[in-house]
Amino acid sequence: CGIVGYVGAQSALDVVIAGLKRLEYRGYDSAGVAVLADGGLVAAQKAGKLVNLEKELVGHPLPAGSTGLGHTRWATHGGPTDVNAHPHLDNAGRVAVVHNGIIENFAALRAELAERGHRLESETDTEVVAHLLAERFGACGDLAEAMRQVCRRLEGAFTLVAVHADAPDVVVGARRNSPLVVGVGEGENFLASDVAAFIAHTRSAIELGQDQVVELRRDGVTVTDFAGAPASVRAYHVDWDASAAEKGGYDYFMLKEIAEQPKAVADTLLGRIDGSGSLSLDEVRIPVSVLREVDKVVIVACGTAYHAGMIAKLAIEHWTRIPCETELASEFRYRDPILDQRTLVVAISQSGETMDTLMALRHAREQGAKVLAICNTNGSTIPRESDAVLYTHAGPEVAVASTKAFLTQLVACYLVALYLGQVRGTKWGDEIEAVIRELSDIAGAVDTVLETMEPVRELARSLAHKDTVLFLGRHVGYPVALEGALKLKELAYMHAEGFAAGELKHGPIALIEQDLPVVVVVPSPRGRSVLHDKIVSNIQEIRARGARTIVIAEEGDHAVVPYADHLIRIPATPTLLQPLVATVPLQVFACELATARGNEVDQPRNLAKSVTVE
Ligand code: G6P
Repeated sequence: CGIVGYVGAQSALDVVIAGLKRLEYRGYDSAGVAVLADGGLVAAQKAGKLVNLEKELVGHPLPAGSTGLGHTRWATHGGPTDVNAHPHLDNAGRVAVVHNGIIENFAALRAELAERGHRLESETDTEVVAHLLAERFGACGDLAEAMRQVCRRLEGAFTLVAVHADAPDVVVGARRNSPLVVGVGEGENFLASDVAAFIAHTRSAIELGQDQVVELRRDGVTVTDFAGAPASVRAYHVDWDASAAEKGGYDYFMLKEIAEQPKAVADTLLGRIDGSGSLSLDEVRIPVSVLREVDKVVIVACGTAYHAGMIAKLAIEHWTRIPCETELASEFRYRDPILDQRTLVVAISQSGETMDTLMALRHAREQGAKVLAICNTNGSTIPRESDAVLYTHAGPEVAVASTKAFLTQLVACYLVALYLGQVRGTKWGDEIEAVIRELSDIAGAVDTVLETMEPVRELARSLAHKDTVLFLGRHVGYPVALEGALKLKELAYMHAEGFAAGELKHGPIALIEQDLPVVVVVPSPRGRSVLHDKIVSNIQEIRARGARTIVIAEEGDHAVVPYADHLIRIPATPTLLQPLVATVPLQVFACELATARGNEVDQPRNLAKSVTVE
């Protein structure tokens, strides 16, 4: 969920709505605002996207006020209805609260409140906070103190922002787990889940730490821990360009982000490979002596980042000979994994806020493992809690379906694999030299793919009426197939599945029927040519059973031509780097299919970009 709070001289409603627009990527099931005006509190909530709320406010305008808050929601407790939308109020309508996270003991608190005569109207866990705050404020008359007392009673993960009609010019926030940042202005201050919400007003920010409460007034910001002791905070300057988060002439953020991939890839490599072809990753602050002792690598991630991790496993094992496993972050800590001081855990996350990944890394550190984060968001929680971080330089990714972040995650994974090989003195043969050379040129190859995408778009439009698309690959092509299928599920809401091509004959081949589109990612015929020959046989097997084959193959690979109903060419690359070029047509394919089916490309149904609950 996305949260915004404001106190200052401007119209709180305008500032809050503009901020929520920048945070809609965090959830868009419902939205709401509350403003302190004329000695009272007014609020509006609406199911669906922010535009629904904006329309509501045109029909029923709120009185103007200069203190307020807002919320854009990704539903957890209770469906995405008007009643469940934030902010939540107490029975007297004097306090308004917005919340990100899950309050695990809410049922007990709810029962307790009901006994004391409170009427709770929604199905959410948040409403209990509004009622508790109203009680505590009634007793102590200080909103920040009331918030501290309430936080001490809450279990689970929560980030809260509240206002009270009897505390004009005050906004109070509390943070446990999901992020909350203060924007410091002149005679005005801001609170938000992400700096994007206030970057138009100020670039001066303060990041709240775990278990801290902040009180915002027009001319001051006070931060304490939950007990009330003054807390130390990190102030910093936000240096990204606000225009990076605009669509810049494209219909969708996703199209812009696909097009930005060559630059994102080049930026992520920048300064990390020197002229002689060796890697300098000074920012990886894990001592070389520790990296030399590593005897196992475990990669944890979710969604698209997990697919990057599957490819990283192949690169790490091949180039360093260190055993490596890749695991879904949400499964990791619950299976009692075997970890010790010699395990290197790599946590991959675009947002740096995914709760599943965060919990996996905390578990790994508790077991004594070292954690290296690969992350795209400066100062987010996952890098802050890791031993070291390698940032991807994709720039802000706004579309929910990840594209440029994925390609840069791959680049970072290759860098980590090569770096581990370098510090451990793994025998560097010609292959490694060639890989480093090709990696330095890979942005150009991605660009070449982008220039030849029109036939892919045409093909996608012609398949808009289909129900199912299958994806096949082997080796690095298998995670690419999974990623192609995930993109199609996320964006086109179609049944799409990725399979290891060799596994097809053990079951999934039964799905093949006349004219079923099957996308096949073909490995390079050079290098590991056995793999190539095997997949050419797989293409023949499915075609013989009626499949319509859509083949992604390297330039100059003639063997596939007789069996490809549609042929998508990609530039030749070393085998392990192929996902950097092979994924791009699948992104374009999914985006175009979604558009042809009339779906919302940037904000697919039921999803959120940053999932801050487990
Ligand atoms: C969400 C998004 C996915 C993303 C995943 C991991 O589920 O919808 O697109 O891949 O989170 O996100 P992260 O920020 O950790 O890379």
